[in-house]
This record gives sequence, C-alpha cells and structure tokens, in this order.
Amino acid sequence: MAEVPPSVKGMNDIVAPEVSKWHFLEQKARDVLESFSYREVRTPILEYTPLFVRSVGEVTDVVEKQMYTFDDRDGRSVSMRPEGTASAVRAYIERSQWNQESVTRWYYMGPMFRHERAQRGRLRQFHQVGAEVFGIDSPTIDAEVIAMLAALYVELGLPASSIEVTINSLGQPEERAAYRDALVTYFSAHRDALDDESRRRLELNPLRILDSKNPDVQALVANAPVLLDVLSEGSKARFDKVRELLGALGVTYVVDPRLVRGLDYYTATIFEVKTTAGELGAQNTVCGGGRYDGLVQSLGGPKTPALGFALGVERTLLALAEPAEHYEPTLGVFFGPMDEAALAFSLPLAHKLRTGGIRVEVEHRPGKPGKHLQRANKLRTRLAIIVGGNEVASGKLVVKDLATGQQHEVPVAELEMKVRGLLD
Ligand code: HAM
Repeated sequence: MAEVPPSVKGMNDIVAPEVSKWHFLEQKARDVLESFSYREVRTPILEYTPLFVRSVGEVTDVVEKQMYTFDDRDGRSVSMRPEGTASAVRAYIERSQWNQESVTRWYYMGPMFRHERAQRGRLRQFHQVGAEVFGIDSPTIDAEVIAMLAALYVELGLPASSIEVTINSLGQPEERAAYRDALVTYFSAHRDALDDESRRRLELNPLRILDSKNPDVQALVANAPVLLDVLSEGSKARFDKVRELLGALGVTYVVDPRLVRGLDYYTATIFEVKTTAGELGAQNTVCGGGRYDGLVQSLGGPKTPALGFALGVERTLLALAEPAEHYEPTLGVFFGPMDEAALAFSLPLAHKLRTGGIRVEVEHRPGKPGKHLQRANKLRTRLAIIVGGNEVASGKLVVKDLATGQQHEVPVAELEMKVRGLLD
C-alpha cells in the first residue's frame, strides 16, 4: 500500500469525540462574549508580512523565528497569522471603523501559526479565542475585560482555585523608553554574562531580554530594574484604579512586576492567566492580553485606545478535567432495519424526525436486532427502533428506551409525538 504523507508536524486533526469538547468551549466563549456585547470579526489567515513586523515587532521571537512567511505567486511576502490582534487592527483601520461606531468590540476564534518546538500544549497550528475593544480609554474597561475572561473560565468549569490572573503595567511609551534606557545601562554593565542573542537584543530591543529562556540570563533579569518602580504618577494611579475595580468585581489576581509579554505593541495594563489544572507543565499560560494604545496610530489609523486578549484553545481544553466523551452529544433515535424493505420504510420516518430537530441515525446495513442494539448503545442512543417485516406490515413500531429498558408500541402516525415525549 502507498504511504500517506503525514500531517505537518505540530498541526493536528480534530475529530470526534475530541471535537465535542471544542464545540463546548467555542459555544461558551460565544455566549460569554456576546453577553458582553462583542460581535464576531472574521479576518483572513494570510496577511502581508509587514503587518506583523510593524505590530508584533521586528525583534520578537514570533517575527524573527516563528512566522510561516513566503512569497505568494505575485512575489509579495505573505505570512500566516501568528496571532489575531494585528489583523483586527488592520481591519479596523481599513474599514474606518471609527466612522461606523465610536466603540468597537470584536471577538474571533480560529487557527494561528507559529513555528515553535512542538510539545504538549505548544503547537505550530494552534487556536485562539480572542477579543479586542477599540475606543475606550478608561481603566474601567481594563477591569471589565479581565473580569469577562475570569467569567469565561468559570463558565468552562475550571475551578477558581486552579486559575491565576497575573497583571502588570507597562506604562506609556515615554515611560517604556525611559525604562529601556535603564535596562540598557543595567545589562551593559553585565554584558559578559549575556548570551549572543541577548547581546543582540541589547542593541535592538532590550525589553525582550526579559523573556530570555537562558537560566544565566534569567539570573541577571531577576535583579534588573522593575518597570513598576519607574512608572509616572499618572500611570501608577491608573494601574491602582484597575486593581481597585478588579477587587470590586471579585477577580482574584496577583501583580507580577516582571510580566512583560512577548509582543511589542503593549502599553499600560497587561495580564496573563495561568492554570494549575490539567498538568500543562511549562505551557500553563492559557491566556494573555493587554492594552495597545499606540498600535492603531502606528499602523496608520487615528490615535485610538485599545485592548484585548487571546486564550489558547488547546491549552484551555487540556485544563478541563472531563474527558472528551463527556461532551459528546447523545443520539435521539437509532433505526435498525432488518431488511431492505424495512430500511426503505425507515428512511422517511427518520427524515421527519430529523427535520423536527431530533438527532437520528439510520443503519444502512440491514441486519439482526442484536447487532443493531449493540451499535445503538455504542452511539449512546436514547431510543432504538428495530424495524422488520411485521412493523412494515402493521405500521406499528416498537420504540425501545435504552435508558429505562422499557418498550413502547407506537403507530407510525404518532411516532414523532411519542419520541418527543420520551426524549423530554
Ligand atoms: P499570546 O500571549 O502570544 O498573545 O498568545 C495568547 C495565548 O495563545 C497564549 O497564552 C497561549 O495560551 C496561546 N498560544 C500561543 N502560542 C501557542 C502555541 N504555539 N501553541 C499553543 N498555544 C499557544 C497574543 O497572541 C495576543 N494577540 C493577545 C492579545 C489580543 N493581546 C491583545 N489582544
């Protein structure tokens, strides 16, 4: 037999029963986000490469090492989106969205692509549920977004005790510039202890040294200046307000002054959600986000305050305790015909039930009742109907309730009513 070319490393098929867990998460996310008045935005998977270079940042792991970038057939460099914020901002600007509404709340869900070292909870095609808000400056919205996120995790069934919300403030661009200078002074004094990568970043983007995975560099980072200490009074007051509001909303959080996030566009409030559930190991950051008040303008739009977050779907699913089977829908009715005539007789009956919204499977391989019942059980069916010559001749069916073991004789004309009654 010919060998099938395998799926691309780090990119998975999602099939039942697993897909039911995905549906559960996606539906909960839609419900929660829509209840906070967000509308879905769907953007393309491919974008021209400069969009990500200019937003995520030229000297970031995502842009330097992880993007799937290639020239399309017209010779223009395109990239498969590594995240959703840049595309949302591009769409916001291209549509002059501020002319349609003064505040825009968007959400999205879908695949993102990063060429990372694949392992549990870290994929090359992974999925995010994200949300972005444009047009609100007030710290109240920072708190509302974080509270919404916490509400979503509760809805998904993750115990509050297994969730940790971490927040920090990056201040305004001028403050970050001053902080950058402080970092350059500090790391320059310890230049010999830096690795090549960090030395290069010292010239280009010193904040990114703080993300270094190298333990020697991490030891240096531990003593580096802390941004919260150098924030202006205004930024500090703003951050205090966010904290106060989070308290009022009942969100438990910790302040991590070393939290910087790996993307360059952030300003002011940033946050992450980690979980202890699901043995995620080092990949336990299930969600991240923050403000990016300068991004819309830097990409060519008007000055617009904005913020958002994205949660990793695969990681969040790994944190849910129930196995995928728990989320599988049950089958309402299973028809098991014993011969071809019974199959032909069953089809229109099944069709009628289906158009009434009931989940029905018809076995298209006629056979013995025992085999049919076996399959009905495997499909987690509630009601099984074995159809043979007698049923066809009399127009009366025996509906077997697999939950109670009871049998009900039902004339064909009353089938839908009876089935509904039993399923309720
Ligand atoms: P991010 O922190 O790069 O932020 O990604 C958000 C979440 O996506 C992470 O916390 C993680 O759960 C998941 N994730 C990232 N990379 C992978 C991967 N290789 N495999 C599996 N899961 C992954 C952003 O993407 C920002 N756009 C979030 C945002 C929206 N900020 C403002 N608005």
